[in-house]
Amino acid sequence: MSQDDKKKNVAKAAIAYIEDNIIVGVGTGTTVNFFIEELAKIKSRIDGAVSSSDASERLLRQYDIPVFTLNNDIEVPIYVDGADEATQYRHLIKGGGGALTREKIIAAASKKFVCIIDDSKMVSTLGVFPLPLEVIPMAQNHVSREIIKLGGYPKLRVGFTTDNGNIIMDVHNMKIESPLELEQSLNQIVGVVTNGLFAHRPADILLIASNNGVKKK
Ligand code: A5P
Repeated sequence: MSQDDKKKNVAKAAIAYIEDNIIVGVGTGTTVNFFIEELAKIKSRIDGAVSSSDASERLLRQYDIPVFTLNNDIEVPIYVDGADEATQYRHLIKGGGGALTREKIIAAASKKFVCIIDDSKMVSTLGVFPLPLEVIPMAQNHVSREIIKLGGYPKLRVGFTTDNGNIIMDVHNMKIESPLELEQSLNQIVGVVTNGLFAHRPADILLIASNNGVKKK
């Protein structure tokens, strides 16, 4: 089975978690694009969506799904998003698409976070996938020096600007044995807006697609 077929299957499986008359939190990325396609099929039974990126918002609007913002004073019972890496503890690395800050905000504001991945994303230790940081542009050199002190190798994502007008630095060579501690340490670096570790607010449900179907963790 192709990776895209697995992504489609897991996107379909996530629809089972969508209750009627709710606003659905929608993430970003290729897996989520399949989820938005599925959501469009049931759009008559939801009130709308809140999105973690301009790209997802455009797609939702193409399907005529009403888009809200968190400042509309709404409740978000469920947030569905992909990930770049996940562990059995449902700790994640996210931000491969650069939308990590808005993703973390929606995850924090949601009651339930359902993460949809294919089995290539499962790891025993996070960090093979470079850890994205959203950084205020003027802090680039300062943040680089601080990351090197922590043992990482920061690389600027060249030619990329986030929806919030910032840069992304991808941190290589980090074997992340203690995601909770590292997430906190990275939050302490002045100039880092958000880091792509989702450990303090992990996924509540991890749906993993493989050749043998979709499993829940
Ligand atoms: C976007 O910033 C990311 O957090 C995505 O959720 C993550 O990169 C997974 O994307 P794919 O579904 O495209 O692999």
